[in-house]
Amino acid sequence: MPPKILMLVYVFQDLETISVKTAEFFCDLSKEYIVRKGIFNVALSGGFTPERLYKILSTIHYRDKISWQNIHFFWVDERFVPRDHVESNFKLLHDALLSKVPVPSKNIHHIDTDASSPFVSAKEYEKELRKIFALAGNELPVFDLILLGIGEDGHTASLFPGSKVLEKKKHLVIAVINNKLDFARITLTMQVINNSENIVFLVSGKRKATAVKKVLEKSEPYLPASLVKPKRGELIFLLDKDAAALLEANKVFTTEIKED
Ligand code: 6PG
Repeated sequence: MPPKILMLVYVFQDLETISVKTAEFFCDLSKEYIVRKGIFNVALSGGFTPERLYKILSTIHYRDKISWQNIHFFWVDERFVPRDHVESNFKLLHDALLSKVPVPSKNIHHIDTDASSPFVSAKEYEKELRKIFALAGNELPVFDLILLGIGEDGHTASLFPGSKVLEKKKHLVIAVINNKLDFARITLTMQVINNSENIVFLVSGKRKATAVKKVLEKSEPYLPASLVKPKRGELIFLLDKDAAALLEANKVFTTEIKED
């Protein structure tokens, strides 16, 4: 029998509140891992939603509370754009958080977009993950925490509905070329995402309500966000009221739903 996933759905008032709650969670979880293993490996997403969280984590309160030198930062996905491009996930993380906290540069493992193509960039990032996590053969990295968002179409990371790359099992990282996208993307694969210990979805706004409903009520099980099912640990949804607006509580097959 497959292991039972512990899925928790929390609904709070607004983006500010879910950002503060996620910052608290990040702080507590990093402490727990650092006490236990001496290290905390996280993979973070880009997009609009997590920017506030990153800014909150950079404030003096968290700067002093978190053991930044023991945290290693990875990227869930990236657009194939220069590092200083407004759409770069590296830039987002760097400007909002990493340039403001005492994290050593050796702990920052971004997706290098100076490579000659998105395919080379994906290959190099995979090589970097294999080296850092000391992986042999078909082993997968185990991130302690992965932070994800959901697109209106149900995508997560840079894994889009109907894409063949969702089935890719050979790679840790892949390039995604899709003519609906402004830029090629590089992304962790679903098997890597699902091999992590804790996954948090941070979702805000009315525009996301339909996708959230489909994912949580399992009406479209093949949407990329619906395919996120960690093999171990916890799957946590932090939603604001707008994103949760279409959920019918009695239809949500979760262990626990909390309202604030
Ligand atoms: C990215 C992402 C992507 C994002 C969703 C939600 O870099 O864009 O990794 O999967 O999380 O598209 O994006 P918003 O937070 O901007 O709505």
